[in-house]
Amino acid sequence: MDRIVINNVHKAFALKPGQTVVVDGQKSVRIPVLDGVDLTVRSGEFITLVGPSGSGKSVLLDIIAGLTEASSGEAMIDGGVVRRPHPKTAYVFQQYALFPWRTALQNVEYALEVRGTPKAERREKAQYFLHLFGLSGFEDRFPSQLSGGMQQRVAIARALSTDPEVLLMDEPFAALDAQTRDILQTELLRIWAQIKTTVVFVTHSIDEAIFLADRVVVMTARPASVKQIIDIDLGRPRDIELRNGQAFNTYRTQVWESLRDEVRKAQRDWALASGYAM
Ligand SMILES: Nc1ncnc2c1ncn2[C@@H]1O[C@H](COP(=O)(O)OP(=O)(O)O)[C@@H](O)[C@H]1O
Ligand SMILES: [Mg+2]
Repeated sequence: MDRIVINNVHKAFALKPGQTVVVDGQKSVRIPVLDGVDLTVRSGEFITLVGPSGSGKSVLLDIIAGLTEASSGEAMIDGGVVRRPHPKTAYVFQQYALFPWRTALQNVEYALEVRGTPKAERREKAQYFLHLFGLSGFEDRFPSQLSGGMQQRVAIARALSTDPEVLLMDEPFAALDAQTRDILQTELLRIWAQIKTTVVFVTHSIDEAIFLADRVVVMTARPASVKQIIDIDLGRPRDIELRNGQAFNTYRTQVWESLRDEVRKAQRDWALASGYAM
């Protein structure tokens, strides 16, 4: 079954008064960011999105989340056009985005509070999801008393506690050190295998994209469209050791070859816009 359908989505932002960009050799007061994105995500699928920095990946997630409106085209969840945040969608950002004045438990409970879940059920669910992420015993800590990895575990626990049908993750592990990142990737897959929610995960790490995904979606440089979709046929469950194998390496080469020209184009555009010779 299709959970998310993105249908010819275009998005352009108006520039500030006086600013212009060159689009197709013409001066423009609008900056085109998404240029006809088409993508269908099946229910329970784990999709990763890679693309050059500034290509519009976060904007695309915002459109799926109902936080930003497409200029044309549409994002649909379960056949309905997304016009506002969907109650069955959860979003995890790169920054931990926890309330500093709430404990870990209260942070998770908050997501359930705003959905009107009764108090006892709230507590039970919040404890369960903290437990899943190995945070039993840390319920009463404030974010400042937790490591970056633990804070991000709380943020993911909070997102999952609402039983989302769609989980959007925007470079959630980018700020973490390499070891913590590896551990969290494995934990996320373990928990996803239990709850089978549909995940769209943006990353700039090719290894992370391959390790997590059923399919890796490579985006072009801005204005972005889908350049290539690569099926990752590595079986599950996946162990981090998989990354040392030949099959993984073949995917690594394939994703990089698809991405390379787009990264170069993005760098060229940036150099032109900022007056650097390249
Ligand atoms: N609210 C906004 N107003 C104007 N431009 C924006 C806005 N949000 C994003 N952009 C522009 O859209 C482009 C893509 O941004 P983004 O989706 O954040 O890229 P990334 O692929 O790195 O996540 C960038 O050039 C950014 O400057
Ligand atoms: Mg981004």
